[in-house]
Amino acid sequence: MATTSKQQTEAPAERQRAPSPYEKWIASTGVPVHRGYFVEDVRTLELGPWPERECDAAFLALTGQEGISEARVTEIAPAKTLPPLRYALDEITYVVEGRGMTTVWPGENGPKRTFEWEKHSMFMVPRGFNYQLTNSSGTTPVRLLHYNYMPIAMNIVPDPKFFFESDYVNPEVLAEGDLYSEATAVSRNDPRGADRVWWYGRFFPDMRAWDKLHTYQERGAGGHRVGVVFSGSQMWSHMSVFPVGTYKKAHRHGPGVVIIIPAGEGYSIMWPEGGERIVIPWHEASVFVPPSRWFHQHFNVGGEPARYLAFHAVRGIGGERVVDRAADQIEYPDEETFVREKFEAELAQRGLKSLMPEQAYTDPSYQFGYEIAGD
Ligand SMILES: [Fe+2]
Repeated sequence: MATTSKQQTEAPAERQRAPSPYEKWIASTGVPVHRGYFVEDVRTLELGPWPERECDAAFLALTGQEGISEARVTEIAPAKTLPPLRYALDEITYVVEGRGMTTVWPGENGPKRTFEWEKHSMFMVPRGFNYQLTNSSGTTPVRLLHYNYMPIAMNIVPDPKFFFESDYVNPEVLAEGDLYSEATAVSRNDPRGADRVWWYGRFFPDMRAWDKLHTYQERGAGGHRVGVVFSGSQMWSHMSVFPVGTYKKAHRHGPGVVIIIPAGEGYSIMWPEGGERIVIPWHEASVFVPPSRWFHQHFNVGGEPARYLAFHAVRGIGGERVVDRAADQIEYPDEETFVREKFEAELAQRGLKSLMPEQAYTDPSYQFGYEIAGD
C-alpha cells in the first residue's frame, strides 16, 4: 500500500537531528567545531581553549567526514609540554607547523620512547599507549592535525571514557621493541608494477620531501603515488604527487577520507552526480573531504608538483574505495568541456599553460609517458 503516515515521514528527520554520541562529546569540550566542505588553511584556523588538555584546539566536522572520521587541530604553545593522553584507537598526526617531540609509553611505567618531528612529519600512536607532546621551540607555536575513527567508534560504544581510560595494549605491538624504527617497503607483488610497494611504519619524517613514489597511470596526469600502512593498525593513507600543468581524472568513492596539502597550489572540484559543483581552492595546509560518492577531481595550477596526503576511512564503510572503475572514474575524453576550459583559464591567469597531452583527450587508453613527471 502506498500510504505513509505523517509519523513515519517525520521519523527519519527527527532521528537525523539527534546528535550522535561523538557530536555530544565534541560539544561538551567547548572547543570550536568547523563545518562546511573545506578549511583553506589549518595554520590560521580559529581555535579555542581546551583547558583539560592545556592547549588550543578545534574539531573539523566537514560534510564528507559524515560521522566516520575525526579531524582535530591542536596548537601547542612555545616550549610547552601537554599533559599525557591515551586513546583506545590508533591515531595519525600530521605536523602542519612547528617542531617538537612525542614521548610514547605503555601502562603506568612502561619504557618510554621519544622521537622528534618537524613540519610535514607524520606519525601514528598505537591504541592504548600513553603519549605526550612537546613543542621544542621557545618562540613558535606547533600546529598538528590528528586523524582517527572516533565518530564511528562512539556510535558503537557511546562512552567517551571508554576510549580515554583504557590501557589495553596489543601484545604484538608491545613485543616489537622500537615502535618508531625507519619505515620499510613491502612488495605486494602488484601486477601493475614492480615498483608498487607499500611503506610500513609509524613515523614518516617529511611528507613534503618524501620521494619514494611509484607511477600511478590509472588516475592520469602522469602522477605518482605512495601507499602507507601504519604498522599494527587498520589505518592507512596515501599521498599523490602530480606535475605542473596537469590534472587528475575525476573519481568517486565513500566518505571519511580527509585530505591535507603538504605542497603545491591548485583546486579541486567536487560534485554529486548531476548536482552542483563545489570548487575548493587549495595550497599548503588546506584540508578538504570529498562527500560520499561525490566525484572529485584535482588540478595543479602552481609552479611546482602538487601533493596531497589522504587519510583513509575505516575499511568496509560505504564503499570507501573505488568500486567500479568504469562507473566511478571519468576518463579525460568523457569529461564535460568546461573541465578543460576552466583549467586552461586558471593557468592563463597565472601566466602558465596546460601540459596535458592533446592525445589524452581523444584516446581513452592514453598512457602517460612520465617524461613530464618531474617528481
Ligand atoms: Fe578520492
